[in-house]
Amino acid sequence: AAPSRICRLITANKQGGPSVQTINQLDPLRHQISDLRAEMGRIALVPTMGALHDGHMTLVEEARRHADAVVVSIFVNPTQFGPNEDLDAYPRTMERDTEMLRAAGVDILWAPDAAAMYPAGFVTKVHVDGPSRGYCGGTRPGHFDGVALVVAKLFNQVQPDVALFGEKDFQQLAVIRQMACDLDFALEILGVPIIRDADGLALSSRNAYLTAAERAAALALPHALGRAAEEIRAGSDVAQTLAHAEADILTAGFAQVDYFALADAVTLEELHYFDGRSARLLAAAKLGKTRLIDNLAI
Ligand code: PAF
Repeated sequence: AAPSRICRLITANKQGGPSVQTINQLDPLRHQISDLRAEMGRIALVPTMGALHDGHMTLVEEARRHADAVVVSIFVNPTQFGPNEDLDAYPRTMERDTEMLRAAGVDILWAPDAAAMYPAGFVTKVHVDGPSRGYCGGTRPGHFDGVALVVAKLFNQVQPDVALFGEKDFQQLAVIRQMACDLDFALEILGVPIIRDADGLALSSRNAYLTAAERAAALALPHALGRAAEEIRAGSDVAQTLAHAEADILTAGFAQVDYFALADAVTLEELHYFDGRSARLLAAAKLGKTRLIDNLAI
């Protein structure tokens, strides 16, 4: 039998692997999604801002285990960047990203431009209270509103059965879960554990900004988290442990610690004592011009 339209999309291209279809406009996306659903079944969405690394590719791999077809979005979302943040400098590596997604057998790459996502006259906002308070929500005002807005739009555009997000952005994951629950999005949201380099630094597109010396100093962040987690588990005073961790990070060469906190792993409410319930250490600190975030389960 002749291959179906979707199957043809996945047939070998000239490099001998599967092809990924890149779509930039909403109407063709809707058509392709509807065909993909009819011909393949369950759809997974992996939202990204591109500059893909092994952390993203782990999300894609995991997506395959939970769905029949995988859609990856790449959109550097202006509404989640503050006025003095790195929107313009944010790494954009579309050609390389497309090749990585092709090699991973992704079905659709949804890569809208800013006008397709936010056409002239766009005025709607999404604000998630609760888990977006404090931590990155405190130091990056409006950031999670921008994340919630674009993720709500991506959910409506792709209508996935499951969406996957990295636990590296732990607060983001909590905000998205809350938003999806409150707004009745009928999909499953999966958090995928942090992928780290062999020496322990969490993978991030922003690691590309680090100089060699900063890359070496950056390890102080996961080391401080690891030590603090051990001490808190062993019963040390939480405030003192967090203060020591901050001091260690600054001594290693970080310019500023935005926060180093212990939080309830679900509500993100700040914890001053560890009572054995599921908790998470959350940290953000600036090294030169680069802001790094990381977290660890207790
Ligand atoms: O984590 C990210 O890369 C972004 O915040 C997301 C979820 C793709 C929204 O722009």
